[in-house]
Amino acid sequence: MIPSAPPTPIGQPLAIDGGPPVVAGPLPSIRDASGRLIGAEEEALVREVIRSGTLAYIYGDKVRRFEAEFARLHGVRHAVAVSSGTAALHTAMIYLDPEPGDEVIVSPLTDMGSVIPILYQQAVPVFADVDPRTQNLDPRSVAALVSPRTRAIMVTHLYGNPADLDPLLAVARRHDLAVIEDCAQAHLARYRGRLVGTFGHLGCFSFQQSKHITTGDGGMVIAAEDGRHGRRLRECFDKGWPRDRPGRDHLFLAPNYHLTELQAAVGLAQLGKYPACLSGRQRAARQLDGLLADEPAVEPVAVQDGAEAVYFYYCFRLRAGALRVAPAQFVAALTAEGVRCEQGYPGPVPLYAYPVIRDRRTFGRSGWPFTSPPARRDWTYPPGTCPVAERLCQETVVLPWNERLEPAHVAAIAAAVRKVADAYRA
Ligand SMILES: Cc1ncc(COP(=O)(O)O)c(C=O)c1O
Repeated sequence: MIPSAPPTPIGQPLAIDGGPPVVAGPLPSIRDASGRLIGAEEEALVREVIRSGTLAYIYGDKVRRFEAEFARLHGVRHAVAVSSGTAALHTAMIYLDPEPGDEVIVSPLTDMGSVIPILYQQAVPVFADVDPRTQNLDPRSVAALVSPRTRAIMVTHLYGNPADLDPLLAVARRHDLAVIEDCAQAHLARYRGRLVGTFGHLGCFSFQQSKHITTGDGGMVIAAEDGRHGRRLRECFDKGWPRDRPGRDHLFLAPNYHLTELQAAVGLAQLGKYPACLSGRQRAARQLDGLLADEPAVEPVAVQDGAEAVYFYYCFRLRAGALRVAPAQFVAALTAEGVRCEQGYPGPVPLYAYPVIRDRRTFGRSGWPFTSPPARRDWTYPPGTCPVAERLCQETVVLPWNERLEPAHVAAIAAAVRKVADAYRA
């Protein structure tokens, strides 16, 4: 249903105050078919798997084909499919095999799925601050945090917007650090013309429901080379088991993160949807950029120079002093107008303010790895750890985005933003 979109709902009371909402009907959503490109192609391949009776990847060919096509798409030699984006990042961490207490520099503006794998490997997350324009890692902050215990930099390409890789890779090269690219939100985004995920040592993807292509849940790790640290990627998500050799063996500690043949069947069909997904999201984002260009209260998150963004979310900051209400009130009012949105990402506070990290709720009462004997120090992350990120979490409005937003939907979203901004203008 196309919502009603009065171009200038001037004079109407806000919906939060009892007025009519700008967006009368539901907008397309990633939660169901309204906002996703899932159909006959997926159905046919899933039916094939069901009829074959082979659901497990170790006996089938769908996961292998999904991996091969994903590797080919990225021009890399290796790709392994796993059960989630978190599993992909954990597989990458297992591959790097850090010593307990080693440090991984990471953004505080990312999903907890970026940090959980660091903690499970008994390594310590070190949160670097972000660039206020793009909200991605600030290379100067990263450089300042490198220590003799730093093992890797995990670079999230947030909101589908590539991070500034050149200076980040320079820091990594200078200190001989591994680089894990977290591309969960940035499928086929480009930096200086090249696909993200192919710059670092390992590129990790998520196929969770909201991602550019989806298998419900799922993930992928890509790499130019395998076995570099004495481990092969395929063993890092498969109980340390070298299945290409006869018999059973378990070479090191690793979980079972298999993707199933059913999921890979969906994934194979979804690969064909990338062009429509990317162009739909980009077209809608460009339209909203244009419609909000002269709205003084909002400032869209900047796309990195030399990059092509793929819009996992559409995000803007509320300009300090432009409105007479707090950002939470703006978000509540915009939601009431029929535009679902959130304050900040991963929320109104950065990752380190969530109980798992703030209160060190990890392994029993140990507080490990934050407090573990091999760590360089006792790790705490008090307010003020990353001041720019903390401010952005407060000021940013996050709009869920998808490839089925039509021009009328985007016009309605813009009208709602303007209505709320007009009502609350300072
Ligand atoms: C940037 C980022 N990293 C990691 C993840 C974890 O992926 P998953 O939810 O598939 O485990 C997500 C998921 O939202 C994400 O957005």
